[in-house]
Amino acid sequence: MATRRIPIASDHAGFEMKQRLIPVLRSLGYEVEDLGTDTAASSDYPDYAHPLAQRVSRGESERGILLCGTGLGMSYVANRYPNVRAPVVWSPEIAELSRKHNDANVLVLPARFLTEDQAVDIVKRFLDTSFEGGRHARRVDKIEVHGEAQ
Ligand code: RB5
Repeated sequence: MATRRIPIASDHAGFEMKQRLIPVLRSLGYEVEDLGTDTAASSDYPDYAHPLAQRVSRGESERGILLCGTGLGMSYVANRYPNVRAPVVWSPEIAELSRKHNDANVLVLPARFLTEDQAVDIVKRFLDTSFEGGRHARRVDKIEVHGEAQ
């Protein structure tokens, strides 16, 4: 798995922030896969969340980054995929805990509620933090639905 390759995607509400984050990710040594959107024109967040979540769910990407206005729509879509854990993150502390305790693999940013500097700090913390495992691994293993929902 190419750890240093990371997909990123947004709708129109996250477009500007995505454009700001891409060079930051490159400067950190990541090969960025920009899955769109490519303009600030109105667009539908599921069209961008599905392709990114599929990559992470299949293990083709270890982590990914999604942005929309609130983060909620992107999170709803991404979390429907097996093995995807996609929290909406609004602070570096939440980013750190989402990695340490929940082994989050898709960072979802509420672009309309963060400054670009805040988003950069969150991304760095998310990418720099490892999963703690131990008791948290047991809990993460219990997340997947295996028939309970039918
Ligand atoms: C777009 O206006 C907005 O609804 C979208 O970016 C997101 O916040 C949805 O959850």
